[in-house]
Amino acid sequence: MRPHGKNGAHGPHVPAAPATRRPDSTAPVARPPLDVARLLAGRRILVTGATGFVGKVALSLLLDRYPGIGKVFVLVRPGTGGTPEARFFGKVVSGRPFDPLRARHGAGFDAFVHEKCVPIAGDVSAPLLGIPAADLARLEGLDLVLGSAGLVDFDPSLELALGVNVRGPRHALELCRRTGAALVHVSTCFVAGTGAGGLWAEAPSGG
Ligand SMILES: NC(=O)c1ccc[n+]([C@@H]2O[C@H](COP(=O)([O-])OP(=O)(O)OC[C@H]3O[C@@H](n4cnc5c(N)ncnc54)[C@H](OP(=O)(O)O)[C@@H]3O)[C@@H](O)[C@H]2O)c1
Repeated sequence: MRPHGKNGAHGPHVPAAPATRRPDSTAPVARPPLDVARLLAGRRILVTGATGFVGKVALSLLLDRYPGIGKVFVLVRPGTGGTPEARFFGKVVSGRPFDPLRARHGAGFDAFVHEKCVPIAGDVSAPLLGIPAADLARLEGLDLVLGSAGLVDFDPSLELALGVNVRGPRHALELCRRTGAALVHVSTCFVAGTGAGGLWAEAPSGG
């Protein structure tokens, strides 16, 4: 699409991305650059696994780079006798992965994370991620589920592993279908090379 006027109808002119070709045509198709900040502005996102290694960093980066994000609902297992709020605000955002965000906001850090983040209780191994009915109602019109919950133990019980790593993504999809959200699923690919038999961590993998 050609921009109208000097700077185009939608703001200053941005150089076009490299042209790609449709598989069924020789005509080049220009794609606009991906503007993630604009795409996420005002969006409502649910993040799972935000108490974990990958999820903490992902959440901190999201909030640091895209402060215009609308709301981030954070699925948290409360722990015995606790609340999702106490665990998330008391033990998660106080951690080092949130240091860049803390440095950026200074004294306004607490207010910022309380404004953006809404901890909700849940468990990915349960239907609809185990989210209580009252919280499900708040998720109507959700834009995105970022699923980073996972069981990364090498020898969990089969039932536990299936519940988290197989049924968990299905339950996330179920929530997406109900709310209209898109799903980004964080996964892992183990590469074991072409060797046969057992594989030991100390042994060279052979590529
Ligand atoms: N670490 C890596 O280098 C790496 C690299 C590539 C991909 N990944 C993938 O990223 C995902 C997360 O890995 P990680 O390293 O961040 O693992 P992690 O540190 O063990 O964190 C796991 C997260 O999943 C949550 N979780 C586990 N079971 C749950 C359940 N039933 N309901 C709700 N939440 C549950 C945990 O919550 P609690 O705190 O309540 O236990 C925690 O937030 C996995 O799928 C992993 O395969 C990891």
